[in-house]
Amino acid sequence: MIDPRIEQYVERLSSPHEALLAELSAETADELGMTQMLTGPVAGRFLELLVWFGRPKRVLEIGTFSGHSALAMAAALPDDGRIDACELDPKRAAFAQRYFDRSPHGSKITLHVGPALDTVNRLEGAFDLVFIDAEKEGYVAYYEAVLPRLSEHGLIVADNTLANGRVVEGERPDIADFNEHVAADPRSIQVVLSVRDGMTLVRRAL
Ligand SMILES: C[S@@+](CC[C@H](N)C(=O)[O-])C[C@H]1O[C@@H](n2cnc3c(N)ncnc32)[C@H](O)[C@@H]1O
Repeated sequence: MIDPRIEQYVERLSSPHEALLAELSAETADELGMTQMLTGPVAGRFLELLVWFGRPKRVLEIGTFSGHSALAMAAALPDDGRIDACELDPKRAAFAQRYFDRSPHGSKITLHVGPALDTVNRLEGAFDLVFIDAEKEGYVAYYEAVLPRLSEHGLIVADNTLANGRVVEGERPDIADFNEHVAADPRSIQVVLSVRDGMTLVRRAL
């Protein structure tokens, strides 16, 4: 979607991800494959810096895969910060948990295995930051479940909102429903960023 030369340039000039995340990415490729699902060094740093800046205490991640984005965010969380991470696939969850156990920030992460919507409905309290990165056809339901539970300065970050450019290719990828739902919603204020495969930031309109 983005000129590969720009992608390479951006990745070369962004701080590379920590050694443990680099190892996680390499082992993900060997063991799980589907590395296109990994958040990766640039989007991972973006999330880390958002956490650094926003100082959230309570983070919710929907779609953990092998744990890259959860660990990237955990690295910038204050000591009393917590991440509830949701993953449907037990094998992927077990892989992620192995890396959480090796990380100095792993104790900040609680991994919930099962359908994320069930987990979100079971969890109590408000969220300061919500990262949505699971099945695209579920984004509207996740949004509706978390928007009312955002803290006053809470933020939703939704990943892959440009569907590799398919949103403007005459197709109607699942994510288009989410994009239009949020755009039409007077309860929220959003920006769609053409970072990697598209990231949408949403806050409640107070
Ligand atoms: C794009 S990957 C997440 C990538 C991850 N955030 C990272 O940084 O590497 C999406 C993940 O969501 C999981 N998933 C799909 N549907 C789900 C559901 N209903 N509940 C929880 N997880 C789900 C998939 O198993 C997959 O591992």
